[in-house]
Amino acid sequence: MRPAVPADVGDITRIWRQGWADAHLGHVPAALVAARTAASFAERAREQVADTIVAARGEEVLGFAMIDGDQVDQLYLDRAARGGGIGAALLKAAAEAVMAAGHQRAWLVVATGNVAARRFYERQGWVDGGPIVHRAPVPGGSVAVDGHRFVSPGR
Ligand SMILES: CC(C)(COP(=O)(O)OP(=O)(O)OC[C@H]1O[C@@H](n2cnc3c(N)ncnc32)[C@H](O)[C@@H]1OP(=O)(O)O)[C@@H](O)C(=O)NCCC(=O)NCCS
Repeated sequence: MRPAVPADVGDITRIWRQGWADAHLGHVPAALVAARTAASFAERAREQVADTIVAARGEEVLGFAMIDGDQVDQLYLDRAARGGGIGAALLKAAAEAVMAAGHQRAWLVVATGNVAARRFYERQGWVDGGPIVHRAPVPGGSVAVDGHRFVSPGR
């Protein structure tokens, strides 16, 4: 686990775009899918590099997490890196970064239809606070998405 650097942006963009599709297609409105263009992932990866932690093996980026205040904003692994405990390590590193910044707990939103991720967060000891309507930001506004808000174990 290490902080991301600008040279990671290409790998983060690729992992994010593929992982976002795996996690969201069929579970979110068409307007959100239309807004999540290849360029949009590249732009957000560049903008948020200072708030990103990567999991890497040597030169190879295996996945990443982003934080935004007390929120774990994004968590994605390369397809080949899933199922092996790396997600748990990244989630722990992200929650620790949130708490090191002075917060008591971290939180995140997962799409209701992403049942594999919901099971994963529960296995990590995060608590499902129930359904919410999440306003996913898009250029010029937001799109309503059915989600669940999860809260991390405390310090
Ligand atoms: C969610 C994620 C971060 C969890 O990390 P991980 O290290 O793979 O965690 P786990 O090993 O516990 O596996 C989690 C789930 O991934 C799936 N999975 C497991 N091995 C897999 C593999 N080899 N390939 C693809 N998916 C796999 C399973 O559905 C598993 O959950 P289940 O065993 O309850 O069915 C990671 O799987 C991922 O990046 N998924 C796609 C993107 C995503 O959903 N991100 C979260 C958005 S809120």
